[in-house]
Amino acid sequence: MSEEYKREHVFGIDYGTSDFKYGPIALGETPEVVENRGYFVDKESLMSKLMDIRREIVVGKELPLFLESRKSLAERMVYPMRNGVIGKDDWKAWRVVEELTKYALNSFAPRDEEFDGFYLVASISMVAPRYMYEKLFEIFKKMNDEKTLVKAATIIPQPLAVAIAHKIPTCVVVESGHGNSQICPISMYPIRDAVLALNRGGSSANILMAEILKDAGYGDLAKEESLVRRVKEEIGLLPRDLDSAIDYAKANPEKVHARLKIPGTRIVIDLGEHSWTRFLVGEYVFNPNHEIFQSYFTRGMPKPSDIKIGDTFFYGMMDMAEAIIESVEKCPIELQPHLYSKILLSGGNFSWKVPEDLKEVAVTSDLKLTSMLHEKGIEDIEVRITEEPRFSVWRGCIVYGYAVPIDYEWNWNRMEGWLYLA
Ligand SMILES: Nc1ncnc2c1ncn2[C@@H]1O[C@H](COP(=O)(O)OP(=O)(O)OP(=O)(O)O)[C@@H](O)[C@H]1O
Ligand SMILES: [Mg+2]
Repeated sequence: MSEEYKREHVFGIDYGTSDFKYGPIALGETPEVVENRGYFVDKESLMSKLMDIRREIVVGKELPLFLESRKSLAERMVYPMRNGVIGKDDWKAWRVVEELTKYALNSFAPRDEEFDGFYLVASISMVAPRYMYEKLFEIFKKMNDEKTLVKAATIIPQPLAVAIAHKIPTCVVVESGHGNSQICPISMYPIRDAVLALNRGGSSANILMAEILKDAGYGDLAKEESLVRRVKEEIGLLPRDLDSAIDYAKANPEKVHARLKIPGTRIVIDLGEHSWTRFLVGEYVFNPNHEIFQSYFTRGMPKPSDIKIGDTFFYGMMDMAEAIIESVEKCPIELQPHLYSKILLSGGNFSWKVPEDLKEVAVTSDLKLTSMLHEKGIEDIEVRITEEPRFSVWRGCIVYGYAVPIDYEWNWNRMEGWLYLA
């Protein structure tokens, strides 16, 4: 056991609700990504017997090769972490997590004699209950029965990983991924009592994008979740101010016109006269309260709802600036200005692109939040998007693992340190 061995064998895993990011320190800046899902193979089917498929569950890059008909898809495909939390007894979800973790570690485990397991840093949602930590450690330990993959492991909340990746001890991390958004003030450690969660993330924007596609005559395509996501990422826009953006779109239809060809297929999506709705997609994530969304709700689009999962309340409709303010105001007054002066945005849901010729009306997420906070009277603020927002949690895992000394052992009261498993 040496510091040097550890530094060479740090391995990070970010358990995102839609994307599972993983890889060893040697990857540098960019992790591998596979979808956080598993497919339960129908072992009783004649074909899987004939083809000699013995696996009960498939995960990772080859998963699409096993997909059967669409009907069985819904029953057999399991997305374990829809809200960042897994039920204690949801054995199917835990099986997927186990399989994915094994897949990730195995795909990088060196074959040399000297290898004695990775130093694994796993990152999960800020709102994950304590039993998820226990269960994950159990899974890591169990994996070693077959082959030593994990020498020691530790688990950190995602917002903390982001702060670590940027080496900023006092800040507010806003982590907005696919499933939901977490707002977490940090002053050395996360201030748990001030954490606030929104039941909105990239998937909410997908729901609106699907409605827009239906209205534009692409009802069939709107059912394919991954296609909808792609269209959203390519043509969705975040308006500086929604009303003026819509006026602009109506006055300059050719500039806002959205047309997208899907490579490798014959599909061409042309929003035509509906192109102005591109601005709705980004706005919805930040503030779904504009009256214009009402018509979608009336026509049956589900409204982001308030929900309680475990002990955490997720707000459906609260706008993002309001959520930041409520969270910061739960912290000591003296600390508040310092928190507003370092707001870090991480997660793929903050990656809204700004086409060169739409700079007047479309903005990036940091500018949007800055102006929303200004409107609410908060002045001295600095909002920053992390460098590669989808990967900042994974990067934080690597930085953390590199820095925590090998003899700093896991402590259940402090919830930090290495738990030795091999
Ligand atoms: N250019 C883009 N514009 C808009 N949204 C984007 C863009 N790129 C990625 N996204 C969205 O970011 C989301 C994925 O982000 P991320 O990988 O951070 O989520 P996750 O970690 O899987 O989920 P969570 O953090 O909620 O558990 C998806 O909804 C995706 O569509
Ligand atoms: Mg995430």
